[in-house]
Amino acid sequence: QIDTRSDLMIFGALGDLASRKLFPALYQLERSGLLVRESRVLALARRDIQTEEARSLLMDQLRERVPEAQLDNDVLDRLVSRVQYHRLDFADLNQYRILNEWRDGSDNSLIVYMATPPSLYGVIARNLRDASCCTRKTRVVVEKPIGHDLETSRVINDQLAEVYREDQIFRIDHYLGKETVQNLIALRFANNFFASQWDQNHISHVEITVAESVGIEGRWGYFDKAGQIRDMIQNHLLQLLCLIAMDPPADLSADSIRDEKVKVLKALKPITPDMMETYLVRGQYTAGSSLGQSVPGYLDEEGADRNSVTETFVALKVEIENWRWAGVPFYIRTGKRLPEKLSQIIIHFKPAPHYIFDPDQKHLANNKLIIRLQPDEGMTLQILTKDQGLDKGMRLRRGPLELTFSEAFASDHIPDAYERLLWEVMKGSQYLFVRRDEVEHAWRWVDRLISNWSDHNPYPKRYAAGTWGPVASIALITRDGRSWYEDA
Ligand code: BG6
Repeated sequence: QIDTRSDLMIFGALGDLASRKLFPALYQLERSGLLVRESRVLALARRDIQTEEARSLLMDQLRERVPEAQLDNDVLDRLVSRVQYHRLDFADLNQYRILNEWRDGSDNSLIVYMATPPSLYGVIARNLRDASCCTRKTRVVVEKPIGHDLETSRVINDQLAEVYREDQIFRIDHYLGKETVQNLIALRFANNFFASQWDQNHISHVEITVAESVGIEGRWGYFDKAGQIRDMIQNHLLQLLCLIAMDPPADLSADSIRDEKVKVLKALKPITPDMMETYLVRGQYTAGSSLGQSVPGYLDEEGADRNSVTETFVALKVEIENWRWAGVPFYIRTGKRLPEKLSQIIIHFKPAPHYIFDPDQKHLANNKLIIRLQPDEGMTLQILTKDQGLDKGMRLRRGPLELTFSEAFASDHIPDAYERLLWEVMKGSQYLFVRRDEVEHAWRWVDRLISNWSDHNPYPKRYAAGTWGPVASIALITRDGRSWYEDA
């Protein structure tokens, strides 16, 4: 039995991440009985309030965030009674003494969650060390962005490494906590049927779409410096690509999985200046309509600099230079203000080597595996069968083998990424967290891409909010005789 008794210190406990994600996740862990009696939470922020006020704020936030059907006053009370609040100036070492008072020699493992801007990670880590708040068992959780490029990510990683060993650092990429993303590992390595088909002999190409209907949600200051490539591709999309493309790990240990992911990142073919026109499309949304409502363009968002050339959409053709994937493009696209929130991966299998059916139906003859990450988590395998009826002869029909998780497992609740990730931290398991070399290899590839396009053509193409991105992103795939998958 794994000991999950934890003292969780949340730095930035009154901020957006804590209220939107961390406390609702803790609520669900409490609700499912996973938080052991001894576990405690210390909420830390600059605001000068007392524990009672912080608890009542927390109650209000949870009542707003947790779906009504899952709200239970006993669970709320139990969770909130674990929480103590302390005002803390994160930069002031003298104030850290209260953290030791709170710990009071407890045996629980200490989890330090830095829900703060990354510029504070170094100072918090050093102060915790200097105030003797860390032990060899401390686990520290940090969020993206880990830097703005390779160089700045090294600075952050070095600051953390001054205080913690790599096996104490849990770098969150919340996509790794999503149910269906986890399922990629089960799907690929528990089903020999797929495992034996998973290469350039059998797969023609792969699509990954991560579409969002939201815009930048008041985060101009952060987003405009990042853009969609740093905000989404460097982390979430490259992680998805790694899980699809990696070789089978020897076991499920964190390092076995992460070693395989790193090999994929190292094998990514650089997108050089001569490839820019055909391998990359950057877009920026203009005014349009999102889910039936008129919305402003990116340059008219609150706080916007009207000359910004930051991209809110990226489509890329990515190639992996190894034996498994030679000649198999991965088409990936992600953007804000697209028509819907939809994340899916489509594996396009090659057609049978010799086709014997109606020539008019030849275009149907390749299987697709559609993996839906959100919404409506599940998978569909499109197969070909014979159409029914005496008059149909051997006409083919494409049909789905369907697995929708909410129906299959009849649960009222698919765990949110943060629930799973917090639970894994409590167990001390790192397999869903990103290792330093992964972050750095991803930056290396992304930095080169950014520098090449900045030299080549820094201006993004326009697309109206509520559409699927610039027309050029359609050309990126149709040029190769393919199209983005649309559910018919
Ligand atoms: C975050 C990005 O990491 O992921 C946001 O910073 C983005 O810009 C979000 O909206 C998307 O996450 P999800 O889970 O809603 O797909």
